[in-house]
Amino acid sequence: MSRAAPSLRPGIAGIGAAVPELVLTNADLEKRVATTDQWIVSRTGIHERHILRKDEDPAQLGVGAARQAIARAGVGLEEIELLITATNLAEMPVPGSSAFICQGLQMERKVPFFDLIAGCTGFIYALSVAAGLISAGQYRRVLVVGLEALSRFTDWSDRSTCVLFGDAAGAAVVELMPEGRGILASALAADSSKWDLLHMPGGGIKYPASPETLAKGMHYLKMSGGGVFKSAVEMMEQSTTQALAAAGCSKDEVDWVVPHQANLRIIKAFAKRYGLPMAKIIVNIDRYANTSTASIPLALSEAVADGRIKPGDLIVLNAFGAGVTYGAVVLRW
Ligand code: UT7
Repeated sequence: MSRAAPSLRPGIAGIGAAVPELVLTNADLEKRVATTDQWIVSRTGIHERHILRKDEDPAQLGVGAARQAIARAGVGLEEIELLITATNLAEMPVPGSSAFICQGLQMERKVPFFDLIAGCTGFIYALSVAAGLISAGQYRRVLVVGLEALSRFTDWSDRSTCVLFGDAAGAAVVELMPEGRGILASALAADSSKWDLLHMPGGGIKYPASPETLAKGMHYLKMSGGGVFKSAVEMMEQSTTQALAAAGCSKDEVDWVVPHQANLRIIKAFAKRYGLPMAKIIVNIDRYANTSTASIPLALSEAVADGRIKPGDLIVLNAFGAGVTYGAVVLRW
């Protein structure tokens, strides 16, 4: 758990997002696998998702989101001192996604970058790392990107996973905010005993890509949906409680929760268990499905752009994901 020093705190000066143009509806999926719109909507809340075409470059989504965040922050590209990209599966195993986002943005050559893997909690982790580095005085302005092209490692013949995911990117410019605003606290956590709830075994150094790993479908996402569901609500509740306590805030003060958009039923169960009305929860899973590390900045970006989230609002961001990892950030917008 971390708490920024009082006075000026790091926060999000600009938020942006980008999604591919192609929309895949539940009706489209009915034609591919044995599923129905009714099943998908009632079990997940998802109506449609945006998917990259085969010839589209995932890093360009990150570039689009970053450009929007930088413009909204009102800063110049040359003022970004570090890039952190949260992602589950990078543009290439080596050198990852950051290099391609940096190149696409035409960022200065000396700017350092790295990828961060923390499942769907990646954006929360990356935001916390960025805030910590800024609080420590190491950097003044960090660009955090959540980039996910889950369609590229989804088994499109497996109805239990292919209906759940979408592609997107979100980005935030993190810098010291004016007095009273910024990140008040963050709580990061993980439980490695549950790593197998959500994993993609093939293509890493344990099972390098081979004809055998391909034949066994080891390059697809494997998920125990029920297992994730059961742990998710508990993890969201725990990290939110910890982060709010560290921020010295009560749940009654919370104006908005922007949760990771994995399943509407998970979000509703969290809201009910935590005692928060759904009117305070930002939800857009119906239009984008689960976009992993991009889901929080995508939802936040929409809610800021349409005026729901206003300066001074107390916001909780919370997520859970592969690892398993989980975490929450409390910030004054
Ligand atoms: O970012 C984190 C990533 N993952 C998650 O957050 C996933 C969390 N888990 C979930 O969202 C839910 O567990 C799912 C949406 C994945 C599944 O919902 P569920 O209510 O837990 O359903 P289930 O897995 O228990 O499956 C119920 C039935 C099964 O049939 P039988 O065995 O009862 O005959 C499945 O075969 O639904 C069947 N089913 C489907 N039917 C129609 C599974 N997928 C589909 C489908 N269409 N797409």
